[in-house]
Amino acid sequence: MYDDLPTQYQIGYLTIQPNIVLAPMVGVTDSIFRRMILSLGGCGLVCSEMTNASAVSPRARSRHRQLDYLPEERPIAMQLSGNEPDLVAAAARVVEALGADILDLNCGCPSPKVTGGGHGSALLRDLPKMEQLLKAVCNAVQIPVTLKFRAGWDETSLNYLDTAKMAEQAGIAALTLHPRTRAQGYGGVADWRRVAEVKRAVNIPVIGSGDVRDAADALRRLRESAADGVMIGRAAMHNPWIFRQIAQLRAGMQPMVVTPGDKYEFLMRYLEMCCDDLPERLALNKLKQIIGQFGIELPGAAALRSAIHHSSGVVEARDHLERFFAQYVEAAVTG
Ligand SMILES: Cc1cc2nc3c(=O)[nH]c(=O)nc-3n(C[C@H](O)[C@H](O)[C@H](O)COP(=O)(O)O)c2cc1C
Repeated sequence: MYDDLPTQYQIGYLTIQPNIVLAPMVGVTDSIFRRMILSLGGCGLVCSEMTNASAVSPRARSRHRQLDYLPEERPIAMQLSGNEPDLVAAAARVVEALGADILDLNCGCPSPKVTGGGHGSALLRDLPKMEQLLKAVCNAVQIPVTLKFRAGWDETSLNYLDTAKMAEQAGIAALTLHPRTRAQGYGGVADWRRVAEVKRAVNIPVIGSGDVRDAADALRRLRESAADGVMIGRAAMHNPWIFRQIAQLRAGMQPMVVTPGDKYEFLMRYLEMCCDDLPERLALNKLKQIIGQFGIELPGAAALRSAIHHSSGVVEARDHLERFFAQYVEAAVTG
């Protein structure tokens, strides 16, 4: 039923397989989350959180924690934002030297903090400036440079086709379109017809991003848009098994049913990995953040979220998880 759909795509010399990728998400897709997702299977490419190029330039002294990764995460894209061609080009060289397989440029972020500085989706209002930026970065590095962008600033200034064609000419190796406008933020719907239009307009891989909620949704989007790949963001926080479920559905199998035990194990392992890498306070914050999005879908989940949210330490939070899931998972009690 899904045999006709592409299973991979090519970015320069890299083969991305499967063609289902984890979206970059600030505050979420750090190395720990990416490794968790990859360990569950079905995800072909991960990306760092968006990082301001000015924090990465050789001139800057700050450490690039956001660009930390482990070899098992490869292939990995690292995403930069910025608007000064020389500065972003210098940051791109740093990213290349760090071992990134792909450099992704962000021209889609709608946050006023980012657009206020002329970065992210602000560049959709100045395509000549974006063109200078893309050319400078493509010339600066050997690794493929990709672009993630939105459909336009607002409905009256939709320019996704012009942006896509310009980017291809500038040397961009693949495009990811989140087909909302900047004005939409995360509201309304992602209009995937725009992804299909971009796919028809260029000869480089096109990946669609936005509102993919489950496995069937991902494959339907792939088919309807004829995109080369599908990117998954918020649904991966809600259901980290979505990538594996897509692979199963594609193979003609019934997507796995995620059990309370799977969820318990995921949360405990995530917390453990956070504790290994971060000071306790930050590890606890990470758990608090993910638990807000994670699909627990069991009676009492709201109370568990609240209890975790109010926990003052990791031991307390772990205790809440153990006690909650013990009702559903025998192993949780015995450890
Ligand atoms: C919490 C959060 C953080 C995000 N951070 C980034 C980012 O760093 N870079 C980026 O290009 N997009 C970012 N996005 C946008 C996502 O990559 C994705 O394009 C968007 O959420 C739509 O896909 P979804 O419906 O699958 O979440 C972020 C989205 C969310 C919800």
